Amino acid sequence: MKLFDPERNPPKFAKVPEHIAVVMDGNGRWANSRGLTRTEGHRAGEAALLDVVAGAIEAGVKNLTAYAFSTENWKRSPEEVRFLMGYNKEVLRRRRDLLMEWNVRIRWVGSAKRLWPSVVAELQEAERLTAKNTGLVLNMAVNYGGRQEILHAASALVERAREGKLKGAVTEKAFSRELYQPQMPDVDLFLRSSGEIRTSNFMLWEASYAEYVFLDDLWPDFTRETLWRAIEEYSKRQRRFGNADDRPIN
Ligand code: IPE
Ligand code: IPE
Ligand code: MG
Repeated sequence: MKLFDPERNPPKFAKVPEHIAVVMDGNGRWANSRGLTRTEGHRAGEAALLDVVAGAIEAGVKNLTAYAFSTENWKRSPEEVRFLMGYNKEVLRRRRDLLMEWNVRIRWVGSAKRLWPSVVAELQEAERLTAKNTGLVLNMAVNYGGRQEILHAASALVERAREGKLKGAVTEKAFSRELYQPQMPDVDLFLRSSGEIRTSNFMLWEASYAEYVFLDDLWPDFTRETLWRAIEEYSKRQRRFGNADDRPIN
C-alpha cells in the first residue's frame, strides 16, 4: 500500500474537513454477495481502511475516527464476536509499522467494559508506540457507543462533584474534557458506507453539527477515491451552525 501514488492525486477541495468519522459498514453484505462468509468480508475491509487513511492524509485531514466495533456488536454470534476481537488485534499489530512510517498517531475511543483485555493491551501499545507522531490522528472506535461515552463523561463529573473537585458549572467544555479523547475536535464530516442511513450510536456528542454523507458503496469496496468523493460533497455544503446567511436562490 502506497501513501503517495502519483497516479492517484486528490482533487483540489474547496474545503477539507478537520475531522472525519466513518462507519465502516457493509462487510457482511459484500461477502454474502460473493458467496463468502461474513469474516471474509471483515478481512476485505482492512485494505479499505488503509487506503482511506492514505487518502485522508493526502487530502490534509487531521483526524479520522473509524468505527470498528460498537457496543451493540456484542449481539452478534459468538463466532463473529470472537473473530472481530482477534481481528482488531491482528490488524493493529500488522499495520502499526506502516502507520508509524506514515506518521499516524493511533488512539482508542471506547469502553474497556467487556472488551477483551488483550485487545485493550494492543490498543494501548499502538497508542504508546505512535504517541509522538505528528501526522493524522487515527481514532479507532473499538467497543465504542455514543451513549456510553456520554454516560462515562457524566459519571466522571458526578464523581468529581462528590469529591468536591467540581469547580463552577457543568459547561460543554467541562463535559467534553471527560469524553474518551478530550482533545478530539468536533466531527465535520460523518461518513457511512453501505447505504444505511443511521448513526448506529456513533459520535453522538461530537457529531452534533457534522455534515452527513451516506454512500452506497460497501466498505470493502471503499478506496481513497471514495473518500475524496465524500469530501467533495462536503465541500459543497453550506454550514450555518444556526446562523443566517442570505444568498440569491439559483
Ligand atoms: C461492518 O460490517 C463491520 C462491523 C460492524 C464490525 P457489517 O458486518 O455490519 O456488514 P453488514 O452490515 O452486515 O453488511
Ligand atoms: C455499525 O454498523 C458499527 C460498525 C460499523 C462497527 P452495524 O452494522 O453494527 O450497525 P447497524 O446494526 O446496521 O445499526
Ligand atoms: Mg452492518
